[in-house]
Amino acid sequence: NFSGVESIWLFGYGSLIYKVDFPFLEQRPASIRDWERRFWQGSHDHRGTPEAPGRVVTLVEKPGAVCKGMAFRVSPNVFEHLDVREKNGYLRFSTTLTFDDGRQAEGLVYIATEDNEAFLGHAPDADIARQIAMASGPSGPNAEYLLRLADSLRALGADCPHTFAIESHLHSTGENSRSGG
Ligand code: BEZ
Repeated sequence: NFSGVESIWLFGYGSLIYKVDFPFLEQRPASIRDWERRFWQGSHDHRGTPEAPGRVVTLVEKPGAVCKGMAFRVSPNVFEHLDVREKNGYLRFSTTLTFDDGRQAEGLVYIATEDNEAFLGHAPDADIARQIAMASGPSGPNAEYLLRLADSLRALGADCPHTFAIESHLHSTGENSRSGG
């Protein structure tokens, strides 16, 4: 319930960074502490199907970790739109955002925890890449999601070894299949 609130910071660490299909008042690179981005959430409605679910990112708690993303200052009614777009297991929580100039603000973040039905959890990077290479859903190929996210993270100067390792595996998976191996 946001009654009386004019604007709220929303922190995006996944598709919100590159697929900004909502109005915002202001946009700023930011980071959150003690959370790490992981391709641990299954997607059977956006980037996969029930038969071949894709993998998308969520956050897992890791003391001392810094997760870089993009913060948007939005009107409260934007959450009505996003709560529909980000269905499939995501909840919102509030945390401290740190902007690149060191200033801080409270903001909301979407997270899919292990107790949602679509949660997949840990797998080796190469297995995650293979799963992503094979999955496609109403929002498009899962590989496109991964590659666009990796490009956006590079543009932000974000250090995310997990995402970049899966991206490398995806490239070699593609080369192997093109050469018939
Ligand atoms: C994000 O970019 O922060 C995000 C996008 C979709 C679901 C959850 C989080």
